[in-house]
Amino acid sequence: MVKVGPSLLAADFRVMGAEIERMAAAGADYLHFDVMDGNFVPNLSFGADILKWAAKGPLPVDAHLMVEHPDTYIEDFVRAGAKIITIHAETGGHLHRTLSLIRERGCLAGLALNPATTPECLRYLLPSLDLVLVMTVNPGFGGQKMIPECLDKIAEIRGMLDRAGSKAMLEVDGGANTQTAREMMRRGADFIVAGSALFGAEDAKGFIDSLHASWRELHPQENA
Ligand code: DX5
Ligand code: ZN
Repeated sequence: MVKVGPSLLAADFRVMGAEIERMAAAGADYLHFDVMDGNFVPNLSFGADILKWAAKGPLPVDAHLMVEHPDTYIEDFVRAGAKIITIHAETGGHLHRTLSLIRERGCLAGLALNPATTPECLRYLLPSLDLVLVMTVNPGFGGQKMIPECLDKIAEIRGMLDRAGSKAMLEVDGGANTQTAREMMRRGADFIVAGSALFGAEDAKGFIDSLHASWRELHPQENA
């Protein structure tokens, strides 16, 4: 079944705890936690001290680090209680070393690709990955429209993972609503991040149920 990760960025921060509970009750699998440093992306959000509070809720936390030099923050996010830690391929440096550190410290290791980044950079990293995150918007802001050209990349990465026998999750982030999420899943995504559309939906459970229904339609063999 597809996993769903509400992006906390779109929550009502006056009542963060209640918002997280609301998403858990609606059937979410993870809490997607967007970390922005105002450098890798032109915006600031929140860091490990806030994650510590978010991790006290009912959902495991999926930390998406949109920061330069992510290696310098791994220990902080591990200690704060993240379950998945995803760094960006474009930050360069010793990606393999940073991904290994994430795993050594007991978390799942993810690598994210911006819309302009080709999947080729994943090739020698596949055995080190528990998750690949395909960005379908330019990172930095919630509430943007999905860039349709990115859909082909999901399919390409699905093929790479399957050929390599990798069990890594294929997460897609940016502009997901019930229609675009279906297109993402059709290309092979098995983990959908949803911010503004999910938190803004009148019926969050209905939104997640509809993603589950699309998944079942697209994967009839799993229902057998
Ligand atoms: C963008 C973030 C996303 C974003 C998703 O930089 O990484 O997780 O919050 O929000 P929506 O679903 O509104 O595009
Ligand atoms: Zn994100």
